[in-house]
Amino acid sequence: MPNVKNKVVTASAPAKVILFGEHFVVFGQPAVVLAIDKRANVTAQLRKDDRISINSVNLRVAGTFKGERFTAQKGGAKARLKLEPARNAVKQVLESAGSKKAGVDVRITSNIPVSAGLGSSAAVATATVAAVSRLLEVELSRDDIFRMAYESERLVHGTPSGIDPAISTYGGAIQFQKDRDFIDLKIQANIPLVIGNTKVERSTGELVAKVRKTRESFPSIIDLLMVTGARTALLAVEALRKGELQTVGELMNINHALLSAVGVSHESLERLVYAARNAGAYGSKLTGGGGGGCMIALAEKGRLRKVMAAIESAGGTAFEACKTDEGVRIEV
Ligand code: MEV
Repeated sequence: MPNVKNKVVTASAPAKVILFGEHFVVFGQPAVVLAIDKRANVTAQLRKDDRISINSVNLRVAGTFKGERFTAQKGGAKARLKLEPARNAVKQVLESAGSKKAGVDVRITSNIPVSAGLGSSAAVATATVAAVSRLLEVELSRDDIFRMAYESERLVHGTPSGIDPAISTYGGAIQFQKDRDFIDLKIQANIPLVIGNTKVERSTGELVAKVRKTRESFPSIIDLLMVTGARTALLAVEALRKGELQTVGELMNINHALLSAVGVSHESLERLVYAARNAGAYGSKLTGGGGGGCMIALAEKGRLRKVMAAIESAGGTAFEACKTDEGVRIEV
């Protein structure tokens, strides 16, 4: 065990918006995802005992794990479930360091809306792996960080595609397909995007399960929708590369319709999606798991304010999303 007494390490990782292909990506189809300039920060410090203590300031939950035993300090019965992804991330690193007996204090702060489809839990898991590995002086490549963050999410959510930890780790804009190498899209064009939050919280895991069930009931229909979704995402990649934003917007509308068809839209999302289109956006769609959470609208720069105002009049909160190329990083 290295001498890490009193050392404190902070790492951060970005949120994301999925431009194309959420849900279908779980079934192996391509998706397009962008890292945005909202981040989760995780500070890690070694403890004198072998407990893992986690305080999530934004979720207002805190507690301590001693082996499998959990004691909540803040947030009551819900605390364990909410802290499990970060705890799994710490465990992954401790196991790879051969330090199962070490204990760590973890403090999480974040400006990413939670349960909203913006990848908050993956950003926390990714930043936790990076902070704890640096604290314990375990050398991890970016690929290792991605793998461990993905594994932490898998332990909690069942069958995620890996798109969220991938973009939190690498940043930028990527074309993601499960079990394949990611394609860094190196998009130079500005992508003027508004994010609208319905403020309806939901569980991504439950929505993924819903799509799986619908597919089991109607495989021939849902598989065709998924093939259409894949084609939509690939055409969007070409349009993004050429900077053809109007085409990208039209393809977003098609993608939203496909997501509605598989049952993951919500009346709160429909209101914001149509408010944005009526205010002159090139296109708009739900982003992430759906069922509430967030939508995105693409518009020419000069129209963003109007689109934001329309989303707010329709009951959402709105902010401009800026792409960031910075994935996970150690903060100095
Ligand atoms: C969640 O951000 C995106 C989903 O496609 C789930 C996943 O890919 O793991 C809904």
